[in-house]
Amino acid sequence: MSQIQEPGKGRGEESGSASLSRRRFLSAAGIGAGAAAVAPLSAVAARAGTPDPNIVPVPEWTRMLGAGVNNHPYGVPSKFEKDVVRREVEWLTASRESSVSFTPLYALDGVITPNGLCFVRHHGGEAEIEPDKYRFMIHGLVDKPLVFTLDDIKRMPGRMNRAYFLECAANSGMEWRGAQLNGCQFTHGMIHNVFYTGVPLRAFLDAAGVKPSGKWVLAEGADASVMTRSIPLHKALDDCLVAFAMNGEALRPEQGYPVRLVVPGWEGNMWVKWLRRIEVGDQPWAQREETSKYTDLLADGRSRRYTFIMDAKSVVTSPSPQAPLRHKGPNVLSGIAWSGRGTIKRVDVSLDGGRNWTTARIEGPAMPMAMTRFYLDFDWDGRELMVQSRAMDETGYVQPTKAELRKVRGENSIYHNNGIQTWLVRGNGETENVEVG
Ligand code: MTE
Ligand code: CO
Repeated sequence: MSQIQEPGKGRGEESGSASLSRRRFLSAAGIGAGAAAVAPLSAVAARAGTPDPNIVPVPEWTRMLGAGVNNHPYGVPSKFEKDVVRREVEWLTASRESSVSFTPLYALDGVITPNGLCFVRHHGGEAEIEPDKYRFMIHGLVDKPLVFTLDDIKRMPGRMNRAYFLECAANSGMEWRGAQLNGCQFTHGMIHNVFYTGVPLRAFLDAAGVKPSGKWVLAEGADASVMTRSIPLHKALDDCLVAFAMNGEALRPEQGYPVRLVVPGWEGNMWVKWLRRIEVGDQPWAQREETSKYTDLLADGRSRRYTFIMDAKSVVTSPSPQAPLRHKGPNVLSGIAWSGRGTIKRVDVSLDGGRNWTTARIEGPAMPMAMTRFYLDFDWDGRELMVQSRAMDETGYVQPTKAELRKVRGENSIYHNNGIQTWLVRGNGETENVEVG
């Protein structure tokens, strides 16, 4: 948003149009609205009198031919985007085969997570399946057990494209007892939002013919962890997908190549990767991942089990510890919201730790059980902020505060932490993970 300058002739004041947009920014919702002494539009404009060498002189990249069209036969991000990567928290897990990497949410915009940046979670390393040897089985309480090859799956009628978020039930799990990790990549980055191509699981179950006694299905993976989860039949018949593509291309190996199960809105752990079989049964199987793990110990010693749905949640991705505020004056606060119960209807943002709330602008598609982007255009006068966001979904559910969550769930939980996140923005723009008491 710099103003055009002639070399050697800096501008001493804002142009008419810049003043106009500044007035518009000042009247926008948010803190600092109406404050008199905010900085002008950009750092470049602020350095009045210094000509900007990046406007008129012809730069190097214009003076010579660039690389050929197939410089990277498989496209890669700009080399200047080298910090935008999935990261690990080394101390979190004892091994790298049963571990997790985190989506760099602070650096992303829009709603789709690029394939190379989707966080990865698995319990027994990444299976490398040869597509020709891949088989998918349907058996148990069915009239006709069936086996499908990958080609068979791709020839099934009824193929669909749907965008869904996948959130690990353990996302924000480290934050149960207080603010821990400095960055939304680590506090909230066990989530991705992808456009899947696949065939409804229902088509396979219908082909096999579920017996009237069939009430549950068991999904199993072909990796060394043999991930197995029980899923109620009504969900399997409703909207689960047997997916073979993500964001238009084949599933990535770490995301379950060649086939994974998509279980919209439900715990990431049920989205079995390297999907091997679906067994139909009359009751849940009580597997390891639904008994000793993926259950929540309450204060009175009882446990919540089969907690499938991921409740509404949101986080401000900018500003956040990895994306501090760099400019006074106009700024765009950006964040994401999602709900396993349907569409996001509204997101409110507070800049003062939850005292006052402004409704944010939901921008772009707000699809059921998919990540939704929100913005708040605001003016920052350099004062300390306590930034929060609060999501509401179509069922009327409102994202709780961490205190409200602990009142009901105690402090022993790991999973299903959807409490409101607070970022403290200091006067110099540096941002920290905090909790308001
Ligand atoms: N499927 C198999 N076969 N093995 C696994 O270890 N991990 C589960 C689930 N499906 C897992 C699996 C967990 S806990 C999560 S959160 C998601 O996959 C992660 O999916 P992602 O790696 O695409 O992010
Ligand atoms: Co998980």
